[in-house]
Amino acid sequence: MTETETAAVVLAAGKGTRMKSDLAKVLHPLAGRPMVRHLIGTLDAVRASRTVVVVGPGMESVAEAVAPLPTALQAEQRGTGDAVKAARAALAGFAGDVLVLYGDTPLLTVETLERMLAARRSAPHPAVVVLGFEPDDPAEYGRLIGGADGALDAIVEFREADETQRRIGLCNSGVMAIDGAVLFDLLDAVTDENAKGEYYLTDLVAIARARGLACAYVMAPVEELVGVNSRADLAVAERILQDRLRAAAMAGGVTMLDPETVWLSHDTKFGRDVVIQPNVFFGPGVTIGDGVTIKAFSHIEGARVAEDAILGPYARLRPGAEIGKAAHIGNFVEIKASVVEAGAKANHLSYIGDARIGAGANIGAGTITCNYDGFTKSLTDIGAGAFIGSNSALVAPVKIGDGAIVGAGSTITRDVPADALSIARGDQKDIVGGGMRYRMGRNRRK
Ligand code: UD1
Ligand code: MG
Repeated sequence: MTETETAAVVLAAGKGTRMKSDLAKVLHPLAGRPMVRHLIGTLDAVRASRTVVVVGPGMESVAEAVAPLPTALQAEQRGTGDAVKAARAALAGFAGDVLVLYGDTPLLTVETLERMLAARRSAPHPAVVVLGFEPDDPAEYGRLIGGADGALDAIVEFREADETQRRIGLCNSGVMAIDGAVLFDLLDAVTDENAKGEYYLTDLVAIARARGLACAYVMAPVEELVGVNSRADLAVAERILQDRLRAAAMAGGVTMLDPETVWLSHDTKFGRDVVIQPNVFFGPGVTIGDGVTIKAFSHIEGARVAEDAILGPYARLRPGAEIGKAAHIGNFVEIKASVVEAGAKANHLSYIGDARIGAGANIGAGTITCNYDGFTKSLTDIGAGAFIGSNSALVAPVKIGDGAIVGAGSTITRDVPADALSIARGDQKDIVGGGMRYRMGRNRRK
């Protein structure tokens, strides 16, 4: 038996006025990626073979963010039914199952969509499967009118609902799985004769029933259906997603001393036996190896950390940081686009940018790689086993040979040969009794 194909229509033409933002609503990030991309990731997981994102005029930024997926333009916002119609050309000839999702409801799980598709594909093969939920306050959601057996007769929008219908707690989430063979036929029968003067997608159910087609609903937990309409909603959605990401990390063998204070990205990858102290932030693109310890207040993005390394407290890893096995990156050390090889240590107060630090090298407190001259960035190469004294400035491009020692306080502007001892600072001068004479002079004048 060949599997029924799945397509998806993601509605994202809404203006999102309440976000008070220049950024399109569906591009606001959750766990470091635009919310619409979370949905696309979920659709990938249910192997949707065609996904169309419905956008409004002037939403080129959304088209860019979802590329290479196609977008369909809904020229005017005339309701959810009209929005799905905008995807007609993109779905021409498609007769599998069509999922309709909202771009601003990004927390749907793969498992829920699979349950909807399974309901579509089993007896009585409902033409429309609606995802229902029971919010604490049903407010102005559309109400599901149906039987306890999961059969659905109609969705009544709040504005059209009578008193009895408004007492129904079972609400329409907006998510549907629809038989693609009849979708556009049914949609053509939807009119805008209602309180809002809009084409309601929800009318599909009554229209299908009138044609003798079965409809059904399946339930989902409320927290999957949090819609983002404001910044406060965005924070609620972020928290739910963070809880999921942290739970998955802990299930995979990560210890978090205070999980609620650890912020992850959608793509943060951990090995086993990683220990994370409180208040650590992961931006996108981080991979952490087995046995790594990350101490409190570290900020890490775009970085790879090999096994048994120790980071922080207060470490900052920026994009392109590659930390080798058992290396130590300590407090107030910033690493950008640099490779720190196995066992190397930079434990205090340093900036390391555009550099290689050889295996086992020791970078003293306050060392700075001067990678930028105001025009271009240059590289610093530090050999294996080198020792850089505290408060040294390494003016790039510059190379410190293997095993070389740089005296504290040096400003190094030329390459240092392997195993050399280089000191580049003013010579120390000791004036015997000078301190005493200075003090006596000042006291006399006072
Ligand atoms: C809709 C449902 C309602 C359900 C609720 C769940 C209809 C008629 N009503 O109501 O039953 O309980 O969602 O949240 O479907 N959109 C477009 N183009 C349009 C209109 C909407 O793309 O012309 C998009 C919006 O960007 C949004 C989604 O569709 O992502 C839902 O639109 P919204 O106006 O919020 O629908 P509700 O009135 O809340
Ligand atoms: Mg809404």
